[in-house]
Amino acid sequence: MKILAIESSCDETAAAVVEDGRRVLSNVVASQIEIHRRFGGVVPEIASRNHTLAIDNVVAQALEDAGCGREDIDAVAVTYGAGLLGALLVGVNYAKGLAYAWKKPLYAVSHVKGHLAANYIDSDLEPPYLCLLASGGHTAVLEVADYEDTRLIGQSRDDAAGEAFDKVARVLGLPYPGGPEIQKLAREGRPVYKMPLPVFKGSEELRFSYSGLKTFVINLVHGMEQRGEDIPRADIACSFQECAVEQLFLGAEHAAERTGLKKVAIAGGVSANERLRARFDEWGKASGTEIRYPKLKYCTDNAAMIGAAAYFLIRSGAESAGFDLDARATVAL
Ligand code: KG4
Ligand code: ZN
Repeated sequence: MKILAIESSCDETAAAVVEDGRRVLSNVVASQIEIHRRFGGVVPEIASRNHTLAIDNVVAQALEDAGCGREDIDAVAVTYGAGLLGALLVGVNYAKGLAYAWKKPLYAVSHVKGHLAANYIDSDLEPPYLCLLASGGHTAVLEVADYEDTRLIGQSRDDAAGEAFDKVARVLGLPYPGGPEIQKLAREGRPVYKMPLPVFKGSEELRFSYSGLKTFVINLVHGMEQRGEDIPRADIACSFQECAVEQLFLGAEHAAERTGLKKVAIAGGVSANERLRARFDEWGKASGTEIRYPKLKYCTDNAAMIGAAAYFLIRSGAESAGFDLDARATVAL
């Protein structure tokens, strides 16, 4: 089954053709990062306008790269949420138009399910497993009992991990998006600052928290600025990254102990982080836990992950979406 997938929930206009949920025939991403960089973050209205400009070419390129025409495509899939409403609507309406004109079934995919499904691409991963999702919008651990049977174990009570990377980068004078910039700067630093780390206890609900850590770094930097001190940016980036990663690791470890699952996948933009991957690999070796993460290009937003998720959704017998499909700013995990 070949699925044409479209994703436009934030600042990437993306389209892909995915075969049987695991094989990517094409994956086109038109990033707007350069456009939003001068504002220090994504401006929703500008994102929508640029999706509108890009989407036609992005879809055409995805079909061309895959060597596919209308007759080769079995279904159209699109991210309907969570994300920026105006941005999502561009993809949703484009997908509706295409499905109508081409007389193909349309499937609505949750962005979060897409991030999870990134781990199925070019891999033999099968449920059950635990998934740590860490992106700009979410920080959560989910138990994936089956492809379409997931249970939320815990999530952040405040900011998402990626959001903390972006805000800390900003206070350190690094460009948007902050995650890759912090990672780069952290290589030159040492983790000399002790930063706040929540504790996950016993059977208590698992709740991540990143706002305390973010505020700690902001106060640290502002204090140094007020005293006229040089800002040891690399050491701060390194200390922050270690602490942010440690919290994700401890949360996943806690959930693994509670569920007894020995297979853990990480997903979302932050799963691209080299320290996070190293920490999980280390844990995997020491504890005999199988660790999975997506290829780097499938960690941050893309449409291949949406095509992969759509395949498993269709296989579960889900109904196709109607032309009254609407975009949603939030979607339950
Ligand atoms: O999944 P994603 O592309 O979009 C959302 O669904 O939110 O995640 C974007 C987030 C941003 O906050 C970005 O700073 C972070 O992922 N990110 C990283 C890295 N690459 C992207 N965070 C830490 N280390 C990275 N290498
Ligand atoms: Zn995302």
